[in-house]
Amino acid sequence: MDTQVVIIGGGPSGLLLSQLLNRAGIATVILERASREHVLSRIRAGILEWGSVELLREAGVGARMDAEGIAHDGAWLTDADLMVHVDFKALTGRQVMVYGQTEVTHDLYDAQDAMGTTILHGVEDVRILDLDGPQAAVEYTQGGRRHRLSCAYVAGCDGFHGVSRRTIPEDRRREFERVYPFGWLGILSRTPPVADELIYANSPHGFALASMRNHNLVRYYVQVPLSDRVEDWPDDRFWAEFRRRIPAQAAARLVTGPSIEKSVAPLRSFVSEPLRWGRLFLVGDAAHIVPPTGAKGLNLAVSDVFYLHQALIAALKQGDQAGLDTYSDRALARIWKAMRFSWQMTMMLHRFDGEDGFAAQMRRATLAHLAESETARRELAENYVGLPY
Ligand code: FAD
Ligand code: DHB
Repeated sequence: MDTQVVIIGGGPSGLLLSQLLNRAGIATVILERASREHVLSRIRAGILEWGSVELLREAGVGARMDAEGIAHDGAWLTDADLMVHVDFKALTGRQVMVYGQTEVTHDLYDAQDAMGTTILHGVEDVRILDLDGPQAAVEYTQGGRRHRLSCAYVAGCDGFHGVSRRTIPEDRRREFERVYPFGWLGILSRTPPVADELIYANSPHGFALASMRNHNLVRYYVQVPLSDRVEDWPDDRFWAEFRRRIPAQAAARLVTGPSIEKSVAPLRSFVSEPLRWGRLFLVGDAAHIVPPTGAKGLNLAVSDVFYLHQALIAALKQGDQAGLDTYSDRALARIWKAMRFSWQMTMMLHRFDGEDGFAAQMRRATLAHLAESETARRELAENYVGLPY
């Protein structure tokens, strides 16, 4: 056997799984289609649940996160000038950590380099074979040559557009999907955050989110029609739109500046079941996508890795297959709850084209109830900080 586990995809889930397996003495090879520079240039998630923080520490990649990340006790949900503070720490005893996915990925690459793990970039035309035999194989092309690796297990960590999910025969997969009729335009700017904590802002003009990466780097988003492109949104237009969607109190403190990154992401809910096909296991975005409103995408990838690394270690070290047999069901139970929360947050905070006045009243009433009910705030906080593994 060439290696014990072949991991397809060198994003956060593939790298974290590899790091945890390597630390347990299990050999891995990572196959990544893009260059390392490309993977590290993607600006994506910004909020870590505490369970994610703890697993990153356990993987030996917590030092820079603990030094540079910012723990947040709560967040704001607003509708025009109605501002509701949800105090996660007081309601659940837990915080979340502001630390970007780009930094997590960076730390994982550094740690994997220090371990000497083989990470192959520029890998094309991956095929996953022999999944019901005594050992699996993965074929790929690199530098114009075809290669083949044999292994005990394959981890499909190759995101929504990857090859792993499609390796499961279509008639043996069940897919669930909601596509939302809008996207998020996000910018990064070297300016101080408009508030100490995140603001999820509903408004008559649509949703806006004020997030951050550090004390002089903000990540701000506005809801846009799906047809909009980055070129439609010069900086001045972005700032004017963002300003009118956040509460006046926050807008008064807004500092603007040039954007250093700008991108549009569509919003989607998606789950493909099951997560196991013979010797193949799906992890993270390869199996599921959430709209970003609940800050769950990266955190769900981490919880999948939590279940799968334990199961693979038990199988490869003790010959105990029980964890592998239950991986799909265990991971899906948590995935569906995060799907529900992300969907509910999305419905609570976005304006839908063509909606009637009733829909806006429902959103406003949901927020008014949150303002008055500690029970409602606790329910939101419990989901936002992350349900137990
Ligand atoms: P990915 O990060 O997608 O990594 C998969 C890797 O596999 C990639 O590096 C890819 O190049 C590689 N790959 C793909 N196909 C192949 C192949 N055939 N062979 C080899 N390698 C392959 N979540 C939030 O919580 N908040 C956000 O604000 C947020 N914003 C997002 C914005 C965008 C544009 C996107 C796409 C996602 C966003 N997410 C966000 C979701 C979050 O980033 C993902 O949940 C997270 O990246 C999942 O990690 P992953 O490792 O499973 O997948
Ligand atoms: C960020 C993105 C999210 O989707 C979210 O819910 C919170 C923060 C961010 O990029 O910082």
